[in-house]
Amino acid sequence: METTLRVLTNVVSEAFQKCGYDKSLGNVTESNRLDLCQFQCNGAFTAAKTYRKSPILIADDIAALLKENHIFQKAEVAAPGFINLTLTDEYMLNILHKIADDVNIGIPQIESSETIVLDYGGPNIAKPLHVGHLRAAIIGESLKRLAKSMGMRVTSDAHLGDWGLQIGLVIAELEERNPLWNCFSSAFNADINTVPTLSVSMLNEIYPFASRKSKIDKLFKSKADRATFKLQNGHDGYTALWKEIMRVSISDLKENYNKLNVNFDLWYGESDSEKYINVLINKLVERGLLYKSEGAMVVDVEEETDKSSMPPVIIKKTDNTSNYATTDLATIIQRQKDFAPDKIWYVVDKRQSLHFTQVFRCARKAGLVPQKTELEHLGFGTMNGSDGKPYKTRDGGVMRLSDLLDTIINASYEKINTPWLTAEDEKKEVARRIGIAAVKFGDLVNHRLKDYIFDLDRFLSFEGKTGVYLLYTITRINSILKKVNDLKELEFNCPQIFTDAERNLIFSIILSGETFLKAIREKAPNIICENAFRLASDFSNFYHTNNIINETDELKKATWVSLCILTRKLLIKHLDVLGIEPVERM
Ligand code: ARG
Repeated sequence: METTLRVLTNVVSEAFQKCGYDKSLGNVTESNRLDLCQFQCNGAFTAAKTYRKSPILIADDIAALLKENHIFQKAEVAAPGFINLTLTDEYMLNILHKIADDVNIGIPQIESSETIVLDYGGPNIAKPLHVGHLRAAIIGESLKRLAKSMGMRVTSDAHLGDWGLQIGLVIAELEERNPLWNCFSSAFNADINTVPTLSVSMLNEIYPFASRKSKIDKLFKSKADRATFKLQNGHDGYTALWKEIMRVSISDLKENYNKLNVNFDLWYGESDSEKYINVLINKLVERGLLYKSEGAMVVDVEEETDKSSMPPVIIKKTDNTSNYATTDLATIIQRQKDFAPDKIWYVVDKRQSLHFTQVFRCARKAGLVPQKTELEHLGFGTMNGSDGKPYKTRDGGVMRLSDLLDTIINASYEKINTPWLTAEDEKKEVARRIGIAAVKFGDLVNHRLKDYIFDLDRFLSFEGKTGVYLLYTITRINSILKKVNDLKELEFNCPQIFTDAERNLIFSIILSGETFLKAIREKAPNIICENAFRLASDFSNFYHTNNIINETDELKKATWVSLCILTRKLLIKHLDVLGIEPVERM
C-alpha cells in the first residue's frame, strides 16, 4: 500500500495544481512542530520564487482548498507561508485499518523487481573470524532483510576469503611440520588418496604462527607464495588439503553466524572466481587496458578529477598470483553471468574504499557490467573499546568473534532473571537472543559509517534506546494478551480514539511505512532502529496511561487490545529487519 506521506503529498499536490501552481510543490513531511500540527508542506516558499508572489498568499490559496477536504481536521497557514496539516481521527483510523489488513502491514513494496547481489561477511578461511567481521555481518544481514521486506530480490553471498596468501601460509606451515603427508608427495592422487583430518583449533594456532613467521623468515614467505601459486594453478595435493581447510573453517563459520542469526544464500568464495580470471584478462587485453609495471600486470584507473593519488589496480602480482582486486573483478563477471543484477552492494569496512573505487572503475572500463548496473561500496566504521580505539582483547590482541559472542551471551545469561525458565537449554536460548539483540541494536542504531563504542552494560540495559528495551516491550504486550485471552482472537477493530497516548501511537504506526522507504533509499538500518524505538516508546506511554487489562468498557478494551496486537506485529517486523529474534517472556 502507499505510505501515508505519499497519499497526503498527492492530495496537496492536486491542490497546488488546482490553484494554478506546479504539482511538484506539494511534498508533505512529518511536522517538525508536532505541538502545532501533524504534517507540513513548505511548497509555498519554492512557489514564491517561481510565481513571484508572497508565500503566505500562495499558502492561503492551498489551505483554503484543503480545508474543504474531510480528511483534515486542520489545514492552516503559519507565517511566513507554512501549510500545517492535521488529520481527523476518522481518517487516521481509516489508514490504520488498511495497515492492519495489509499483508505487509503498511511496508511499501518496491514495484520494479530489482535484483540485488549483497556481498557481506567476507570471512577469511583459515583465519579466525574476528570482531572486524561483526559489523559486516550485522549490517549486511539487516540490509538484506530490509530490501526483502520491500519486495526486492536479494541474493546474499558470504564471499569467503579463500584464495589468497593466508591459505598458502597455512599450507606451507603444514608442509614444514608434516613433510610426509601424502598430499605433499607428487604421487598424490585425489581419486584414491585422502588428506588427514584437520580441526579448528589446529587452524587457529597455525595461521597466526605462520603469519608471524613469514614476516621474519624470507625463505618461508617465498614457500608460502609458491604454495599460493600452486594452489591457484590446480596442484592436486594442495587442492585436497585446501578442501579440508575449507570444510573445517566453513563449519566453524556457520556456527558463529548461526549464533548471530546471520544467513547467506551463497557460500561462494574468491576461489569460485578462478574460472573467470582468464575471461577477465582477455577483456582487459582486448580493450588495451592491461600493461606490465614493475613486474606486475596492472590497469590504470586514474581520473582527471581525482584529488588524491589513485594507484593502478594490480591484476597479477610479480609472482603471477591473483590479487584481492583480481578475484573481486572476476567475481563481478561471475555475478553478471549468474544473476545479471541491477545492483551489487558490498558491505565492507570503509577503510577498503580505495580498493572498491579501483575495482569499480576497472570493471566499468572493461565493460564487465552494463552502465546502469549499480556497484556500490557500503562502508562502515569501526567498533571501538571504551578507550575509543578499535576493540581489542585485554592483552591488546585482536578479539576473536567467537570469544566476543561468548562474552556477550554469558553476560546476558547472568543478567536475565527468568525463574519460570527451568529448562537450561531454553534459558540459554533466551540469553542468546537477548545478548545478540543487545549487540545488534547497539551497532545498528548508529549510522553505519560512524565508529561507535562497544558498551555491553549499556547495550544490555532494559531502559533507553536498546535492543533489550524493544524485546521487553514485546514481552509486555505478550503478557497483556495472555491476560485478555478471550479478546486476542478478535478481528482488528479500532472504531474510535479514546486518549492522546493512543493517538500518538497510531500516528507513529501510520508513519512507519515511510521510514522503510527512507531506510532503503539511504541504505541505513539505523532509521529502522529509530522507528522501532519510537513505536516502543509510544506504546509504553499508551500502556502506562491506559489500564488495558482492567478496563470495564468492553469497546475500549477491545480497541486497545487490537492496537496491542498491531503494534506487536509491527515491532516484530522491525526487529526482523534488524535480524533480531524476539523472546516470549523475559
Ligand atoms: N575478506 C575480506 C576481508 O576480510 C573482505 C571481503 C569483502 N568482500 C569483497 N568482495 N571484497 O577484509
